[in-house]
Amino acid sequence: MRTRLAIVILFALCALGLCGCEARQQGAEASLVLGFSQLGSESSFRIGNTRDIEDKAKQYGVSLMMDDANQKQENQIQAIRRFIAYRVDVIAFSPIVEEGWDNVLTEARQAGIPVILVDRTIQTEDHDLYVSQIGADFYQEGVMAAEYLLKKKADMGQDTLNIVEITGTENSTPMKRRHEGFMDTIAGQGLRVLESVSGDFLRSRGAECMRYLLGKYGDEIDVVFSHNDEMTVGALPEIEQAGYRPGQDMVIISIDGGQEAIDILKEGRINCIVECTPMLGSILMETALALKDGKAIDREIHPAERAFSDYDDLSNLPPRGY
Ligand code: AHR
Repeated sequence: MRTRLAIVILFALCALGLCGCEARQQGAEASLVLGFSQLGSESSFRIGNTRDIEDKAKQYGVSLMMDDANQKQENQIQAIRRFIAYRVDVIAFSPIVEEGWDNVLTEARQAGIPVILVDRTIQTEDHDLYVSQIGADFYQEGVMAAEYLLKKKADMGQDTLNIVEITGTENSTPMKRRHEGFMDTIAGQGLRVLESVSGDFLRSRGAECMRYLLGKYGDEIDVVFSHNDEMTVGALPEIEQAGYRPGQDMVIISIDGGQEAIDILKEGRINCIVECTPMLGSILMETALALKDGKAIDREIHPAERAFSDYDDLSNLPPRGY
């Protein structure tokens, strides 16, 4: 009843141009109304994630209200407040940063609407503010990046290597946890991080960061550890223009595993990519539907992920889909 009323109000508001969200209803009556606040469209990961959630909503017969926050936390907070006002059945969102969610999520709880975190997580003392977090184990991604590098270092016969790190958005879960996993794994192994700079997960910022790092450290750089494909692809031309061959003069390690970066890995200009899959739509729909049916759900759900590298035969790798 509540769902049907919400759909009617929602579509009326959208028809009047009062709704900043995009809503879809599948079939005569959707089984569930899901409000999803996407943080932006900064990378092929993010675009793939949005598309997968939209596709899977259709497939599962879920009516989706999708909002793009354009990289702004305040836009995500406003979107969540709109979802509460529409009385959606379930709210899901990918938090751009970890802190600052307690007030709005308390409002969702007071309205009796369960919240699912997708991709990233939040920092809070109040663990009942969300019911489940679906996303990568970012710490393990940092560990996998470091494990590749330790193997590479042994094969190169080097005692020490100097690393520059281009991280993602400050105070975001992937930025923090990838860094921690990487640093914990390289500790005491003769690997030194010259500097970490934030490239905000953006291609243009990856290029800027790389220019800065090359200007400051030049020949000292043995390894570039970049927290996503977008920034890596931005950094590569800078390395080449400075006279170095990425993949040979410098070891290049990236994260995500989108098609463009995988193709560059096959060319030999990237050495290793740790997978971060954006394909979270099915798990999200199944979790939201289980919640609606009052079934038990897992508090944390991590998809299986792997690393791709110049040690692998990637000739039969299926298209990545993002
Ligand atoms: O939260 C996942 C990260 O966000 C991806 O690695 C990056 O590409 C995206 O922007």
